[in-house]
Amino acid sequence: MELQNQTALITGAGSGIGQATAILFAREGASVILAGRRADRLEAVVKEIEAEGGTARYVAADISDLDDVRRLAEEAAGVDILVNNAGIFPFASTADQTVEDFDRLFDTNVRGTYFLTAPLLQKMAARGSGSVVTVTTIADIEGMPNAGVYGGTKAALASLTRSWSTEFAGTGVRVNAVAPGNTKTDAVVDVLGEQELEEWARTGNPIGRIGRPSEIAEAILFLASSRSSFVTGVELAVDGGYTTRG
Ligand SMILES: NC(=O)c1ccc[n+]([C@@H]2O[C@H](COP(=O)([O-])OP(=O)(O)OC[C@H]3O[C@@H](n4cnc5c(N)ncnc54)[C@H](OP(=O)(O)O)[C@@H]3O)[C@@H](O)[C@H]2O)c1
Repeated sequence: MELQNQTALITGAGSGIGQATAILFAREGASVILAGRRADRLEAVVKEIEAEGGTARYVAADISDLDDVRRLAEEAAGVDILVNNAGIFPFASTADQTVEDFDRLFDTNVRGTYFLTAPLLQKMAARGSGSVVTVTTIADIEGMPNAGVYGGTKAALASLTRSWSTEFAGTGVRVNAVAPGNTKTDAVVDVLGEQELEEWARTGNPIGRIGRPSEIAEAILFLASSRSSFVTGVELAVDGGYTTRG
């Protein structure tokens, strides 16, 4: 098992990629703390993990609320691994972008992630080991219509990943990111619709299909675990080849 005797905090773990990551990490022996707003979803995943013999608990928290972020950081102060997966992705054309959604995107994806990561990184550095993996998107690597603000929030996280990886290099803490391509989660089906996803699968990805949450989780596991002990500061595209098309 890759993560025995490790504790991991995974945000947005009640659904989609975060849920798949929490289940995979628990199977690899980690004690998992799941965070998100919907306690019922988190509780269901905790029960699923426990039914398999794993160890998990949850903290209900809204990362767009700084008081909740501080409370979450305190409750998870001793974690060895942080997976910043929580995020929202309301797409909008430039003409239709509202100030409310602009602020909500930055408050959730960037400010919440920043002020959760900052104290946990410092605690990991003080202990001399740790791994942070942040989930970004290929929309911060490639131009994508209607994803300007969303892609901008994730580009900020990619930049923070590089900056933190250098600031904390030498402390035993590594900081990386995974940039998923289109991955079939309920949330993405809601935003894009089944038909557009199928079209994307046929024409968008050289590999000829869209991703599964478990495939993103495997990449997160690689970067979180000591298997990637010489890797820091990277943003790994897990996208069926989408970003290789140039
Ligand atoms: N699926 C894809 O194709 C794809 C592609 C590229 C990147 N991503 C990224 O992958 C991550 C997971 O996406 P997903 O597809 O798995 O969608 P998802 O199921 O909606 O996952 C997002 C998670 O974030 C949590 N969350 C949202 N706002 C939050 C807040 N204010 N505070 C705490 N938790 C919050 C949600 O839980 P609650 O609602 O319970 O809070 C949810 O569990 C996101 O960061 C997304 O940008 C996804």
